[in-house]
Amino acid sequence: MKTRKLGWTDLNLSTIGLGTWAMGGGGWKFSWGTQDDSESISAIQHAVELGINWIDTAAVYGLGHSEEIVGKAIKGLRDKPIIATKCERVWDKDGNIFGRLKKESIHSEVEASLKRLKIEVIDLYHIHWPEPDEDIKEAWTALGDLIKEGKIRYAGVSNFNLEQLKRIQPIHPVASFQPPYSMLERGIEKELLEYCSENNIGVIVYSPMQKGLLTGKFTRERVQNLPEDDHRRRDPRFQEPELSANFKLVEELRLLAEKSGRTVAQLAIAWVLRRPEVTAAIVGARRPSQIEETVVAGDWTLSKEQIAAIEALLEKRQKTS
Ligand SMILES: NC(=O)c1ccc[n+]([C@@H]2O[C@H](COP(=O)([O-])OP(=O)(O)OC[C@H]3O[C@@H](n4cnc5c(N)ncnc54)[C@H](OP(=O)(O)O)[C@@H]3O)[C@@H](O)[C@H]2O)c1
Repeated sequence: MKTRKLGWTDLNLSTIGLGTWAMGGGGWKFSWGTQDDSESISAIQHAVELGINWIDTAAVYGLGHSEEIVGKAIKGLRDKPIIATKCERVWDKDGNIFGRLKKESIHSEVEASLKRLKIEVIDLYHIHWPEPDEDIKEAWTALGDLIKEGKIRYAGVSNFNLEQLKRIQPIHPVASFQPPYSMLERGIEKELLEYCSENNIGVIVYSPMQKGLLTGKFTRERVQNLPEDDHRRRDPRFQEPELSANFKLVEELRLLAEKSGRTVAQLAIAWVLRRPEVTAAIVGARRPSQIEETVVAGDWTLSKEQIAAIEALLEKRQKTS
């Protein structure tokens, strides 16, 4: 699989990284419903066999569970993948989640993540959300200290806006920026991609298939029958009036993908990778067959004609919402 260098770092990431949010399992505020741990472990190990060389997780996914599963899955592997995880979302004993960016909190979070992942050093450590905003400089300074202490190799941020990125960049350079990016979520195209490119910051984008909506596998019935604890039930893109417009777009994308003998999921991922500023896409999966389908998108370069055809469909989609 193709790799791209992450900004100014010495990490060469496969253009697809495996996302493990859904592997956090059920029973917490942002769960994706029940998940079988053995399927998660098989999916992680299969992803590595397929050439994916990095895995994205976060402390909060399943309130520690996703990190534990990643730790179990990589334990016996000869070629250890690069591990990216995140701090800042903390929780209390009742599962209430909140943002904390105080130095002491970050230091205890990193120790807990290292323990769950069963590793000595975290390759890439992101601040998950810039909350509370007034503490982002304190947290970013703490991440710089963690690099010096050898607890983490590189530091990055997720879900920051341009002003917040500019505020922390002078403290120590940002290695990686992790924003949402998909055909339905194009906010970073306005300014953030340009800023990252100018500052040689790697960009690893999340939810490229818009949480499964851009795979072509969703039906209205499946959306209606999502489990009670699947947070996608509360996502406006999975509700009317957005849902009908999204289904229409997916049907048109399907025709386009099929012309190349590909699937909608592969098209959605190849589309985010068309941008040279994007280092890699974080692609979520719950079982081996899902990542087996999507992994090939990492090597698919869309033609100018295909990109233009998608642009026309997205403009049409925009007018209907
Ligand atoms: N930094 C942040 O704030 C942030 C936020 C969101 C995500 N992320 C990271 O980015 C990763 C990817 O984003 P995401 O998981 O939100 O969205 P995504 O990659 O767009 O979608 C992943 C979901 O799509 C479905 N899927 C995957 N492959 C499929 C296939 N071949 N056929 C049919 N369905 C398929 C699966 O759910 P079902 O089978 O249940 O439909 C899977 O969980 C996350 O796992 C996480 O690591 C980070």
